[in-house]
Amino acid sequence: MKNKDTITVVDNRNNNKFEFKIKKGSFGPDVADLTAFYSKTGMFVYDPGFTSTASCSSEITFIDGEKGILLHRGYKIEDLAEKSDYPEVCYLLLNGELPDVENKKKFIKILTNHTMLHEQLLRFYSGFRRDSHPMAVMVGIVGALSSFYSEKNYDFSSTEGMWVAVSRLLAKLPTMAAMAYKYSLGQPFIYPKNNLSYSENFLHMLFSTPCGEYHPSKASIEALDKLLILHADHEQNASTSTVKMAGSSGANPFACVAAGVASLWGPAHGGANESVIRMLNEIGSVNNIQKFIEKAKDKTDSFRLMGFGHRVYKNYDPRANVLRKYCHNLLKEIDSFNVPLFKLATKLEEIALNDSYFIKKKLYPNVDFYSGIILKALGMPESMFTVIFAVARTVGWISQWKEMTELTNNKISRPRQLYTGKNKREFIEIEERRNIKKMYPGEIK
Ligand code: SDX
Repeated sequence: MKNKDTITVVDNRNNNKFEFKIKKGSFGPDVADLTAFYSKTGMFVYDPGFTSTASCSSEITFIDGEKGILLHRGYKIEDLAEKSDYPEVCYLLLNGELPDVENKKKFIKILTNHTMLHEQLLRFYSGFRRDSHPMAVMVGIVGALSSFYSEKNYDFSSTEGMWVAVSRLLAKLPTMAAMAYKYSLGQPFIYPKNNLSYSENFLHMLFSTPCGEYHPSKASIEALDKLLILHADHEQNASTSTVKMAGSSGANPFACVAAGVASLWGPAHGGANESVIRMLNEIGSVNNIQKFIEKAKDKTDSFRLMGFGHRVYKNYDPRANVLRKYCHNLLKEIDSFNVPLFKLATKLEEIALNDSYFIKKKLYPNVDFYSGIILKALGMPESMFTVIFAVARTVGWISQWKEMTELTNNKISRPRQLYTGKNKREFIEIEERRNIKKMYPGEIK
């Protein structure tokens, strides 16, 4: 009797049949194990954008896009956002369990003791133009950490080496991010203070100056902590996959995280929160909403409703739900100035979600739709929104990198392709070359 946990592929050109095992996870979609697909069939599996591809198995995060469910090590994101704090969620993502009192204290102590940067690293900032996008600075500075934590002194495949990478990245990202912001302002760097919590310390480094300490309100500290939790990890998204692709070659983990920062920067990914605020400001008033909805539906127009749609969620992004609720409460408490923007966002959401195009394509608000409004309410400039996302997502990147590095059968990621280029042809001497297509439509200056 055939083993039922298999899938059979039939090549109708010659009626050859190929059988592949079906692997089951704890729950969620099963996978067809196609690792031997090429060796068995001589064909590659074609899936640009990886819409139907599971790149790995993982125990860290589970997303059910149809039901709008997000779990971290089995805990619902709604519960973690409401009842936990960011250091605890970091511990959970890294270790698989929420910490007890003792372990939480130890973990926070480790993070607290590594928040400062090597003084030489500070010199890297002055190499950037003052008007650089802070994400350009972050790609450079995070990458530079790999020269301060190099293979000469650490074996990052060992438990000790791994924890050095984990603890230094988690501890230093807020310091580096705050310094990128200060550098853009022309203000002096503010050093971390060990007596402050993770989120409070980050706000202190962002907004204190030598002339005066910034004492964030409890509501602001809590809002930032929730934002960090809600952006901490999200399965095999583009930036996490970038970190793991780089890490699969055994590259330095600090350099791998720098690659993740670069990938997150894109407007289709972590750069969307910045684009949402620009879009809301461009819409300006409720009367203009329909015009922009029509633009988003117009295939000839490249405009997309930023903060809407998701590769996985075909229902509400549960993080957007938490953020909307939280945004509403926060603005009442700390910043009525942004209430009109929030009102415009909720109206835009209401109209879009009742539009047949958005309903048919299952486009809902994602994590980026409301996060920008909270960040504005906290006093962050739009250019820093994705930097905050990068600070939050560092734990996701490094947890997923750690899980991959701990695998004994870890292979380098090396996809193949469908070749559609020229057939083999003889070399042509330059005198014989005719009608060569110009490289650029215009003239190269
Ligand atoms: C994040 O992967 C993650 O988990 C990411 C993230 C994380 O935590 O790591 O959740 C964080 O990146 C959230 C997404 C932030 N990006 C945006 O808000 C940018 C706007 N959204 C889109 O660009 C888009 O929805 C994506 C990139 C998010 C998802 O794109 P997909 O899955 O590749 O889907 P698609 O582009 O093929 O869109 C499917 C259809 C298309 O129409 P058709 O070609 O089928 O006719 O839906 C349309 C798209 O044109 N569409 C939109 C739209 N998003 C998709 N139309 C208008 N406005 C939009 N926002």
